[in-house]
Amino acid sequence: MLDLSKPTSRDTSPDKLLDTSLGARVMERLAALAAFTDEPGALTRLYLSPAHRRAADALRDWFRAFGVEAVVDAVGNVVARYEGEIPGAPALIIGSHIDTVRNAGAYDGNLGVVAALTVVEQLARRGERLPFAIEVVAFGDEEGVRFPITLSGSRALAGTFDSAALDACDQDGISLRGALTAFGCDPLKVGAVARDPKKVLGFIELHIEQGPVLESEDLPVGIVTAINGASRLAVEMRGTAGHAGTVPMALRHDALACAAAAMTIIEDLARSQTGLVATVGRIDARPGAVNVIPGEVSFTIDVRSPDDAQRGRAVADIGSRLAALAQARGIALTIATTHEASACVCDPQVVTQIEHAVKRQGVRPLRLPSGAGHDAMAMASLGPVGMLFVRCEGGISHNPAERITVDDADMAMRVLLDVVRHFRPMSAR
Ligand code: HGY
Ligand code: MN
Ligand code: MN
Repeated sequence: MLDLSKPTSRDTSPDKLLDTSLGARVMERLAALAAFTDEPGALTRLYLSPAHRRAADALRDWFRAFGVEAVVDAVGNVVARYEGEIPGAPALIIGSHIDTVRNAGAYDGNLGVVAALTVVEQLARRGERLPFAIEVVAFGDEEGVRFPITLSGSRALAGTFDSAALDACDQDGISLRGALTAFGCDPLKVGAVARDPKKVLGFIELHIEQGPVLESEDLPVGIVTAINGASRLAVEMRGTAGHAGTVPMALRHDALACAAAAMTIIEDLARSQTGLVATVGRIDARPGAVNVIPGEVSFTIDVRSPDDAQRGRAVADIGSRLAALAQARGIALTIATTHEASACVCDPQVVTQIEHAVKRQGVRPLRLPSGAGHDAMAMASLGPVGMLFVRCEGGISHNPAERITVDDADMAMRVLLDVVRHFRPMSAR
């Protein structure tokens, strides 16, 4: 299980130890949130699961403690609105996601949610009102682990949610529609979650970098310039199950051997092109007996690039090479695209505003791209987006070894508060 009891601090000598009260508060809340898991002994919090419900309830309790009512919207996001000087004013949306991958770290997504909540707490406890409202959103489905869809919560806010996704089923055959209903949401109202772009000033997401750059530059935070585009594919290979002892090798149609050859093709293709990455994250071979030639295999492919054209060519290339491979081996092949997200360029004006805040907090500003996907990609359809990255140790993420320090959490909080307090709506371009 994650051990968050001792938030690490890079340098505790008195002159270096910042006033880490904000950082410590964030780390305490993250430790509490990490206890809400669907898998004892690990952090796995899937969309619309019991752990999602418990995490949502905890967020609502924390908001209520400083007088802000948070609600769960029709698609399972937790949403809290903190009014500005004039009630009903357009809102700056801040937040991230509270769902996780399986056996996750405690900071991916959750840090951005807790930081956003803590920003509003700082304003609310001072009775501080800004010229605009603040909306905090804890998105419920950024990882896309339970259902073969992703970014459901942010797409719903952006008005780009595809209602066909309601029929997507998880591995237990439960549809998204059924899971939403069981969670207490009304699937018929998902469309009404969409925000009026005229009432949204922008979206700013604080998130761990999930990569090694900030650590290599010895920087606590960085400013995101763009987010890689992503394609997710579901591959099915069907051969012939058979007796492992009696079928000669030359007569086999072994689906798993074909999948193994496919993975080498996929890896070689990605290795050969700068900027391109491809991953087979999940594979399932059936019937899965030691003495049976696998007749069927399902596996996933995740393809990313900052260049959408390069990603599109790579997906097409993978498709044609796997088709030739399957034909040569007498294997039936289907490849379905289950997710597509175009590369997202952060709004230059938001990037500049975040950079000014980083400088005001005394940190050397560094701009960097994001290899990981984020809800900001979906929110970019609604308005200008920006992201603030936080250093994570070793760049490790999607792993229980994911770590940040309390000092970096504190600096991230100072910068995020600074961004929000100085935020200026975009000037018409
Ligand atoms: O897959 C991603 O990039 C994100 O963590 N969902
Ligand atoms: Mn994330
Ligand atoms: Mn993630």
